Amino acid sequence: MSSEARRIELKSEKDLQHMRHAGRLAGQVLEKVGEAVRPGIKTKELDRLAEKFIRAAGGIPTFLGYRGYPACLCVSINEEVVHGIPDASRMLREGDIVSVDVGVTLEGFVGDTAATFAVGKVPAESQKLLDVTRECLRKGIEQARVGGRLGDVSHAIQEHAESRGYGVVRDYVGHGIGRQMHEEPVVPNYGSPRTGVRLEAGMTLALEPMITLGHWKVRVLDNGWTVVTQDGKRAGHFEHTVAITSAGPEILTLPH
Ligand code: MF3
Ligand code: CO
Ligand code: CO
Repeated sequence: MSSEARRIELKSEKDLQHMRHAGRLAGQVLEKVGEAVRPGIKTKELDRLAEKFIRAAGGIPTFLGYRGYPACLCVSINEEVVHGIPDASRMLREGDIVSVDVGVTLEGFVGDTAATFAVGKVPAESQKLLDVTRECLRKGIEQARVGGRLGDVSHAIQEHAESRGYGVVRDYVGHGIGRQMHEEPVVPNYGSPRTGVRLEAGMTLALEPMITLGHWKVRVLDNGWTVVTQDGKRAGHFEHTVAITSAGPEILTLPH
């Protein structure tokens, strides 16, 4: 890979304004879809809801057509970690957990955000998985500071999960984000403190811990997309698009 391809693009204040708009819309879509999660709803219905909302706001669903991906959302149930394809015959059931990931392009920039939701009442260990995965994201965001290094972010996520006995998925990672959904650098959810790229104001990162109740090993289903845990244990996934600023980390994908 050329050094050009590895370069991390720093965003100007004007770029950040656009990313705030794209990010907020992505956050609003996720909130809307989360409100629609209930036993009996089909995953394709969630996708339709998302597409309507995105287009009504003048946005473009970033995932649709990305490397041939056929939908606006990734909807991943239970042992599915990421990249579950919305399906007209796939229904959410009481006790499931469902990870929803959405990307929105607006004003030429991308917002990327995900969360795992409980469908009705879920087992206590599933609820705990969601809580810990959300906390991992928060711990990572706290480290997204000027003067820190990328390994500090990665390590904070890994430490929070593994010290509590959870698995940290290795094969999929967070990423830089901006005009493209996936930019440099890659942001693993595991790593060593005080290593890696030095964090600078203007970097925008999608942080996205994928945390499991069992082993971290995953495989891809025959549809070429859906990533599942090898041991069949459940997984959680939370993601925010975050800007590193001189005033600290700024979460761009909050709904308000
Ligand atoms: N949004 C995912 C990520 O967090 C990527 C989705 S891939 C797609 O990086 F094909 F579904 F778009
Ligand atoms: Co995402
Ligand atoms: Co992402």
